[in-house]
Amino acid sequence: MSNRGLERFPRLFEAFRVGRHELGNRLVALPHGTGMVRDGLVTEDDIAYWSELAASGVGMMIQGGITVHAGATLRHRNRIEGYSTAAIEGLRRRCAVAKAHGVVVLGQLTHIGRESTGGEQDQSAVAPSPIRSSRDLFAPHELAQVEIFELVAAFADTAANLQKAGYDGAEIHGAHGYLVAQFLSPATNRRIDEYGGDPQRRLRFLREIIAAIRGRCGRDFLVSLRLSADEETADGLTLENSVAIARAIAGDGAVDLLDVTLGVRGTYVKDASTPKGVAARAAKRLREASGLPVIVGQRITQPELAEQILAEGGADLIGLARALIADRDWIHKARAGDEAAIRPCIGVNQDCRSFAPYLHCAVNARVGRETRPRFSAKAPARHRRHVAVIGGGPGGLEAARVAAERGHSVTLYEAATSLGGQFAHAASVPHRADLNGLINFQRVALQRSAVEIELDARIEGPADLTRRPDVVVVATGAVANPVPERFCGAGVCSAFDILSAGVPVPASDNNAVLIDDGSGFWLTYGVAEAIAERGWQLTIVSPTSSVPNNIPGESISGLLARLGRARTRYRVLSVLTDVGAGSVELTNVISGESELLRASLVVLQTGRSVAASPASALRAAGIEVFEVGDCIAPRRMSNAVYEAYSVGCRI
Ligand SMILES: Cc1cc2nc3c(=O)[nH]c(=O)nc-3n(C[C@H](O)[C@H](O)[C@H](O)COP(=O)(O)O)c2cc1C
Ligand code: SF4
Repeated sequence: MSNRGLERFPRLFEAFRVGRHELGNRLVALPHGTGMVRDGLVTEDDIAYWSELAASGVGMMIQGGITVHAGATLRHRNRIEGYSTAAIEGLRRRCAVAKAHGVVVLGQLTHIGRESTGGEQDQSAVAPSPIRSSRDLFAPHELAQVEIFELVAAFADTAANLQKAGYDGAEIHGAHGYLVAQFLSPATNRRIDEYGGDPQRRLRFLREIIAAIRGRCGRDFLVSLRLSADEETADGLTLENSVAIARAIAGDGAVDLLDVTLGVRGTYVKDASTPKGVAARAAKRLREASGLPVIVGQRITQPELAEQILAEGGADLIGLARALIADRDWIHKARAGDEAAIRPCIGVNQDCRSFAPYLHCAVNARVGRETRPRFSAKAPARHRRHVAVIGGGPGGLEAARVAAERGHSVTLYEAATSLGGQFAHAASVPHRADLNGLINFQRVALQRSAVEIELDARIEGPADLTRRPDVVVVATGAVANPVPERFCGAGVCSAFDILSAGVPVPASDNNAVLIDDGSGFWLTYGVAEAIAERGWQLTIVSPTSSVPNNIPGESISGLLARLGRARTRYRVLSVLTDVGAGSVELTNVISGESELLRASLVVLQTGRSVAASPASALRAAGIEVFEVGDCIAPRRMSNAVYEAYSVGCRI
């Protein structure tokens, strides 16, 4: 690889000194858990994950949240229980694999306080004051002072365990509305003792933690503090509050770094609707106010933006979480000045945030499967074969990419005149343009590995192939189901018609009704945004009791806010029972009562079915055939990418 990126992104690849450590560049892997933890202990899979991530070339890495006290463990116990000496050996190995690549390694000290983060606890949640989180069912137990002392010691004990395990430092998780932030915020800290009542007393818990860590681990042990510069909630910490906190902590002289983020649980992993580099402005304020070195992350996906943030003084270090999950070669490609080769994070937050049960990634199937034998696009093929891939959606493109990169000769056939399939339509709705990034990446990869691409080529059997292949991957996808005949009429169409043909111009009666089938996913809600944005007065109808029931949690509040601003209305527990001239009849699925709504545009989520496939005809001709993605059963893009990657590695 060339080093062209060193000229284009000189600041990114500058060394940087923190404490007594020299970082090789300005790039930091932000903390993220993998869920690959059993009974509170690091697993082999987790070690393999961090080992590969360390090879990415980051200067520093903050490994994901480690629990500091038994009172904050969740029943699934899939977070490292760093307070226990039993965890030290696994942590030692996890740290060592990263240090082997010259990375400066920190662990993150976490106590979630009143936030359950979606898991069940055996014990009551705790917080400075007994104020219920809007995200949870019950109010927490109000910590007594003696319990606060115990927690301060727990942070220091866990930091000492990290130090014993070889870590260069620890980051105090003071962000995202977790325990430390709960002490900092007047909304969650209503105490009237030494730990609350005014900004100085609300700082006391954090200051005691920092002092206790310094006391146990010494001055050379790096201490980073993660803060949500703006919690972005009605009563949460604002940028001005955080500036004052950062200034006060810097004045104490015991913290080496600030790690700046925005948001609280449910909003801090920003989805594709959030502008890139969203935290840079806040980070700059905290950097100027505190004089401390600052890390900033959040939706920094391309080296150019990272370089620009450094150039504008927004931060000293650039934090990447999902960019490195999506492409572990991000830094090597940036150094080579080859941004077009970067597989971008598309910001959908589905596979990386659902922990089902581990960290996975929609665009990078290897994530969470690092120990699986022969599951690598980098493993050369044993025998070079001619592979035909039929279908140019994300699944077909991925199979072609992996097969070609492993050394096979590949021809890709696509029936349409362009690549992308239905996925390209899905990218056309508001706030989803980042989806195009995957197709662009795959297209570039195919060009570079000399995959022959035949567009406008419908394959029904072996005779349609330009050359007899050794093996075929069928990725012909799915087709939209038609609107049921009883609902057909003027102004009625399917959500897929909107995706392919666009939203009609609003009529004089601008009422539109969108009928979800209960799937409650982007296939409906992406179309909803397009209709609302076009100026229709939209009502969304769903047979379920909640909307939008299958969209990842971190996208829901933003989506509902945008639809809310367009004055979208909802009818839950309702189905479409009739379409009349300029109106629809809806029926409540519980009460059976019907109502009429005015509508000159009626859009139905009709679902998808498997498209006609040449697989049987090809098998009958004695050709080895694999099928991937929606042609097996219509699902999400990540299913197609995973299956395609698997097949690409097997051929
Ligand atoms: C899978 C995953 C797990 C995360 N776990 C943590 C965590 O343990 N502690 C933390 O402070 N932030 C955590 N984060 C947030 C990231 O550190 C980062 O702030 C966020 O993803 C935004 O940066 P990005 O746009 O580069 O992904 C996590 C993010 C992801 C995607
Ligand atoms: S799953 Fe999606 S949001 Fe998460 S890292 Fe991968 S591409 Fe990005």
